[in-house]
Amino acid sequence: MDLGLKGRKALVTGGSRGIGRGVVTALAAAGVDVVTCYRQDSAAVDSLRHELKETGGQHHVLRADLARPEQITELLAETRDRLGGLDLVVNNAGAISHVPYAELSIEDWHRVVDTNLTAAHLVIQGALPLLGPGSSVVNIGSKSSEVGIPLRAHYTATKAALRGLTRSLAKEFGDRDIRFNVLALGVIETEAFDEMPADRRAVLLDRYRGKTALGRLGTPAEVAGAVLFLASDLSRYVTGATIHVDGGIS
Ligand SMILES: NC(=O)c1ccc[n+]([C@@H]2O[C@H](COP(=O)([O-])OP(=O)(O)OC[C@H]3O[C@@H](n4cnc5c(N)ncnc54)[C@H](OP(=O)(O)O)[C@@H]3O)[C@@H](O)[C@H]2O)c1
Repeated sequence: MDLGLKGRKALVTGGSRGIGRGVVTALAAAGVDVVTCYRQDSAAVDSLRHELKETGGQHHVLRADLARPEQITELLAETRDRLGGLDLVVNNAGAISHVPYAELSIEDWHRVVDTNLTAAHLVIQGALPLLGPGSSVVNIGSKSSEVGIPLRAHYTATKAALRGLTRSLAKEFGDRDIRFNVLALGVIETEAFDEMPADRRAVLLDRYRGKTALGRLGTPAEVAGAVLFLASDLSRYVTGATIHVDGGIS
């Protein structure tokens, strides 16, 4: 299906692996020129560069640690120099840890808050001069922020905060015709699942399948489907929304 995205320009944070990679490759396949970033060099970064070269288009895979504000400033300057402007920003990069709340260190709190919330704020604020009428900002949230999860209070707090940020910005920038939405994800099967010991993976898959209406986990490509919708004119009256991409998980 042609969504009319050819020639549009996007910044997607955290595109080297997992969901971000699925979003980057789907946008590139739809004809969007994409800048994406990662934190540390890896074989995944090399293979993404190769994949994007094969797809064609103006794509740039840049190193930037989003927990460091000065690197966000540099990332946005590079984006402006390379793409000129932006039609889409996807705040995808995220950090998590599983820690009993009583033992949660201030360092870990800051790492997760800085990556998931402060970076999204700085990326959006820095991208504002690049975003024209009709552009779209997508923040990757989590169903877990509605239901809560033990050992992930810090993570769920950041994902809940993204929803407040999104709704307020939708109201503040509606008159510039910039849309802001959240995708609240359920459990998405990424490489992280493949890297787990087989017995732990089987237990988790079984548990989440049982909790999900569709009886399976989601894929990065299925998250990308919702991003493509929010990037396109099909969603031009959708703003301030939280769209669940969770297979009906409860
Ligand atoms: N997977 C799920 O089931 C699920 C469910 C709900 C919500 N989400 C959300 O979806 C998003 C993506 O999750 P995922 O599972 O795909 O994560 P992932 O597999 O861990 O990938 C995270 C990506 O973000 C990058 N990244 C992390 N910290 C960064 C930093 N400080 N600076 C720059 N890049 C950074 C990573 O780059 P490096 O490779 O260089 O570290 C990687 O490309 C996150 O916001 C997460 O909270 C995921």
